[in-house]
Amino acid sequence: MSKQIIYDRIARLYDILDLPFEHFRYRPVRMEMFDGLTGDLLDAGVGTGRNFAYYPKDCTVTGIDLSPSMLGRARSRKARLGTAVELFEMNVLEMDFPDDSFDSIVSTFLFCVLDNQHQQAALEQLRRVCRPDGTIHILEYAISKNPWRAFIMKLWAPWVRYAYGAEFDRNTEQYLDVAGLELVEKQFLYKDIIKLLTVRPA
Ligand SMILES: C[S@@+](CC[C@H](N)C(=O)[O-])C[C@H]1O[C@@H](n2cnc3c(N)ncnc32)[C@H](O)[C@@H]1O
Repeated sequence: MSKQIIYDRIARLYDILDLPFEHFRYRPVRMEMFDGLTGDLLDAGVGTGRNFAYYPKDCTVTGIDLSPSMLGRARSRKARLGTAVELFEMNVLEMDFPDDSFDSIVSTFLFCVLDNQHQQAALEQLRRVCRPDGTIHILEYAISKNPWRAFIMKLWAPWVRYAYGAEFDRNTEQYLDVAGLELVEKQFLYKDIIKLLTVRPA
């Protein structure tokens, strides 16, 4: 099933299903992820707009997503919060933006959704639209090294695959080099299961 169909199907339940995770796990992580980002900012795979509350005040923000239903939710949230963000229905694999359009790019839980064969192409697109001195923040899941936590994640995996088309172990780092990107820093922001990759054009 295509990712667009999966997200059009889950859109109306997305925020409700994720509420406990958003509250206890994601909020502080999102806040930290925007630290230091400036200028023209792209939120790739913007979803229902759960990053809106954390955009730095001085950034000019553009959000893209493949799913019209997720974008519909993002538009309602934009109106509710008064967020200054331009939203476009667009595939990260075929972005319409000219080269070097953005100073900062974030993707939160997008790469765990993208199939392995699309990881490199998506990274290449982020590099293309990122200015040479720009910064890209990629927030992703990783499988825990703790056996008990890893066991719980494996129990969740079939649901996450069905409901979100996502996997916990995409290992996006392995495609950075070949996509022309350099890993500046890898930090875990929640236990050893949510990691922030800071990358820049090589
Ligand atoms: C797990 S959700 C994350 C949403 C949001 N970033 C967040 O942190 O809550 C993944 C999002 O990526 C979008 N998506 C999946 N494949 C995409 C693609 N190829 N191009 C753009 N967006 C995509 C989905 O429609 C969905 O809204």
